[in-house]
Amino acid sequence: MSGYWVRNAGFALLATVVAVPSGFAEGPTYAKEVSRLMQENCQQCHRPTSVAPFSLMNYRETKARAKMIKEVVTSKRMPPWFADPAHGKFSNDRRLTDDQINTLVAWIDGGAPLGDEKDMPEPKQFVDGWQIGQPDVIFELPIEIDVQATGVVDYQNYQVETNFDQDMYVQAAEALPGNTKVVHHIIVTAIDPANPRDRANREHVAGMAPGAEPVWFEPGTAGIIPKGSVLNFQMHYTPTGKAEKDRSKIGIVFAKEKPKYISKTQGAFNTKFAIPAGNDNHEVLSSWTFDENARLLTLMPHMHYRGKDFKYTAVFPDGREQVLLAVPRYDFNWQLTYRLDEPLLLPAGSRIDCVAHFDNSDKNAANPDPKSEVKWGDQTWEEMMIGWFRYTALPDGETDLLKHDAQDSD
Ligand code: HEC
Repeated sequence: MSGYWVRNAGFALLATVVAVPSGFAEGPTYAKEVSRLMQENCQQCHRPTSVAPFSLMNYRETKARAKMIKEVVTSKRMPPWFADPAHGKFSNDRRLTDDQINTLVAWIDGGAPLGDEKDMPEPKQFVDGWQIGQPDVIFELPIEIDVQATGVVDYQNYQVETNFDQDMYVQAAEALPGNTKVVHHIIVTAIDPANPRDRANREHVAGMAPGAEPVWFEPGTAGIIPKGSVLNFQMHYTPTGKAEKDRSKIGIVFAKEKPKYISKTQGAFNTKFAIPAGNDNHEVLSSWTFDENARLLTLMPHMHYRGKDFKYTAVFPDGREQVLLAVPRYDFNWQLTYRLDEPLLLPAGSRIDCVAHFDNSDKNAANPDPKSEVKWGDQTWEEMMIGWFRYTALPDGETDLLKHDAQDSD
């Protein structure tokens, strides 16, 4: 056995000497491996018109940042993804595999060579504007908004009539800022005229926030905008030092067929906390109980700058518990939605428990003011504690699946 390996190694060495002209590296090259890896995992954001502060679209730009790239991929800061891999499987998981990380590191340690240009892939094409494709309908803010140069702008709400004369099913929806310099976030909800005051009936349609993605559903599932709904745009503007104007909009792609499953958005809220000044690990809990059999689709923890960690646990009616998502290092700059790989079946009576911790000390570099007690509030120097989630009802015809699921997970 060992003789085989020795001979084989000798052969490989010889082959290398013969096949590779001097001056060419043997390790990964930009042209062959790294360009493709960057196209698939980084360029969606690292291109001139997207969210990242610099572009990584070609050899020159990538080599120039090589040292920093090694640092962010080995520390797993990039691509941005905050779920503890010990819990849950998510279809939009952005993490690089160990092989991909090793390839990048070997390339950088090997001097970041270009390699043979003949190996280069075609440049990857990205679309600007609507990520969901051309919407079937677009609603704009009713007027162009003047955003003052300085100071704090309170959240503003603007309402737009849909004039939908029947319930409409949403396959995908996206909020698009008119002026990216001043729009910090947009939340569009549908207010059902049959139930205008009930907050739980304000179905979330789409949002735009740092790091957030458009809303979309698998075929067969859709969101609903009840007939006659009014769309409420909650706008959060952050002044830039210069007076600006904005006219943001939302685009909606309708489901082509009547969906089998209708998505609902809910949150496990806690609005009654007070985080003492200087406390570096203040715990806040919230819960939500399902009154119908459900299929859980997505999770989205939401806190502000003092948010430190967040965990969702499902508690089944028989007492069984399952951690759904743990985010050990929450980052307000990334409002990520975690899409469950498979919908999780939850019998009526199941509960979702959320646990959050807040760091209101001066050890938290993002803390706007460690000297004040902090309570619930809209503004980013106040706090929130919401475990958002989307689910659909499990149709009566599919309740057999619940038994099956309980057996499986023993
Ligand atoms: C979802 C969008 C997104 C993806 C995907 C993404 N980045 Fe980033 N990246 C950003 C943004 C936004 C920033 C600036 C803010 C920050 O550092 O969090 C950034 C910052 C960086 C930085 C600078 C960090 C620093 O300390 O200043 C590097 C280097 C980087 N990214 C490399 C990569 C690489 C390599 C990949 C792919 C393996 C990647 N990014 C994937 C959005 C992204």
